[in-house]
Amino acid sequence: MITATDLEVRAGARTLLSAPGDALRIAPGDRIGLVGRNGAGKTTSLRILAGETEPYAGSVRRNGPIGYLPQDPKEGDLSILAKDRVLSARGLDEILAQMARQQTLMAEATDDKYRDRAIAKFSRLEERFGTLGGYLAESEAARICSNLGLPERVLEQELRTLSGGQRRRVELARILFAASDGSGKSDTTLLLDEPTNHLDADSIAWLRTFLQNHDGGLVVISHDVELLNDVVNRVWFLDAVRGEADVYNMNWKRYLDQRATDEQRRRRERANAEKKAGALRVQAAKLGAKATKATAAQQMLKRAEKMMNELEAEHVADRTAKIRFPEPAPCGKTPLTAQGLTKVYGSLEIFTGVDLSIDKGSRVVVLGLNGAGKTTLLRLLAGTEEPDLGTIEPGYGLKLGYFAQEHDTLDDAATVWENIRHAAPDAGEQDLRGLLGAFMFSGAQLEQPAGTLSGGEKTRLALAGLVSSAANVLLLDEPTNNLDPISREQVLEALRSYTGAVVLVTHDSGAAAALDPQRVILLPDGTEDHWSDEYQEIIELA
Ligand SMILES: Nc1ncnc2c1ncn2[C@@H]1O[C@H](COP(=O)(O)OP(=O)(O)OP(=O)(O)O)[C@@H](O)[C@H]1O
Ligand SMILES: [Mg+2]
Repeated sequence: MITATDLEVRAGARTLLSAPGDALRIAPGDRIGLVGRNGAGKTTSLRILAGETEPYAGSVRRNGPIGYLPQDPKEGDLSILAKDRVLSARGLDEILAQMARQQTLMAEATDDKYRDRAIAKFSRLEERFGTLGGYLAESEAARICSNLGLPERVLEQELRTLSGGQRRRVELARILFAASDGSGKSDTTLLLDEPTNHLDADSIAWLRTFLQNHDGGLVVISHDVELLNDVVNRVWFLDAVRGEADVYNMNWKRYLDQRATDEQRRRRERANAEKKAGALRVQAAKLGAKATKATAAQQMLKRAEKMMNELEAEHVADRTAKIRFPEPAPCGKTPLTAQGLTKVYGSLEIFTGVDLSIDKGSRVVVLGLNGAGKTTLLRLLAGTEEPDLGTIEPGYGLKLGYFAQEHDTLDDAATVWENIRHAAPDAGEQDLRGLLGAFMFSGAQLEQPAGTLSGGEKTRLALAGLVSSAANVLLLDEPTNNLDPISREQVLEALRSYTGAVVLVTHDSGAAAALDPQRVILLPDGTEDHWSDEYQEIIELA
């Protein structure tokens, strides 16, 4: 159970959320969808509910355990094994390590006294391990992991060798493992920030059922409307314009209806305000003619102005990005070829002998399950990682544009402006300002360090960098992750009209459809095929 009282959340000078009273409360059985535009303050608010940071004002009371999944994978100790990270949720990893230590002591002891002591300690530890669910818990953890696309072999790897997506799945598994302590009932409040971003359709379906059956509280931030539809029974809508949260105690479908009605009412109110402001102005002009009524006229004008300003602010914040991908620079018939690409991590073969050639203007989708090496293939093609075997040959005039899944192409310490400057060193200042404006960055936000941007804002900035580049081959790794539905639609529109070549990795079937691909590359085999409805279906289903 979590209750926020008189909460006020700020970022810089901006008020993201002010919620007087204690309407923001998470009780057992509440499954709340926290929604709103990119940058509205969802992540910031959830961090505060989780106790990761303090609010600007107000207080948060927490009862019972909390499982918090941040939007960005945390940097922690990366040398521990994935399996231990999951088990650590219930302190089991520590007990297992101590058991191993006592076992070594038993084996090495030359003195009976020491050996007996080690044996006694070991059995005490084993007993505790058993009480906590022990060996059963281990297999339960493994089951959760496998359902989230983390097979046995990945669990034996150190966190540092995992992809960002895999690391995030480990974190999710850890939290769900902790929340489901085997007894079937859970009093954990789950706070999940975009949990489906790195999951394939199978894992999402599993997660959906898990969350439906969770009987502690839940707040989930997601742009995945299907998940929201199936899971949530309440909705908090964070309005970026008003800096307020609207609480809807109803399921997703009814919320959508209610929102539509609310929007209509607001539009009516807006029209009314406009009319009133107009009338006030007319009155003020009449009164202003008489010296004795000058003050009243001034006040009326001010009031009209204030009304209009409020409307204007709403108008600005309601904007959407106008995104277009670049006019591709001229290039030869086949701007990019690769031969015999092989990638191995330790003893783990990701893929071997992958050949591909990307023709001018061709559209290719890379398909494969979680962990099949899609991100790795794109990193190789982008040149941010070396293949173990094989070569990549740039063709005549190749200009690559790479969108990395984890926004790796952004410099977190540099500002928004410096990042775009870096992406397009030769562009004129006005052009760049215009470009950033189209991606909805302006004013003080240009000076904000990229590292402090919201997930969706980072995606927008990275895409803006691509647009300034005149690239003729775009390598896009999950370009619609993190985007709110309106911004996502903009990106899909840009994808539809781009005339250069695209290599796309996506779990988003809408993105694949928008690309209208000609070919598909299947990983890990590297086989190529013509695109067909079947492949479209595969993305939709699994
Ligand atoms: N240090 C800072 N200075 C100014 N603004 C900041 C700072 N840190 C964060 N912000 C802004 O606060 C706003 C809220 O960010 P937050 O991450 O909470 O958004 P969000 O609703 O989770 O968005 P998304 O859907 O993109 O994940 C963003 O506009 C972000 O740029
Ligand atoms: Mg967020």
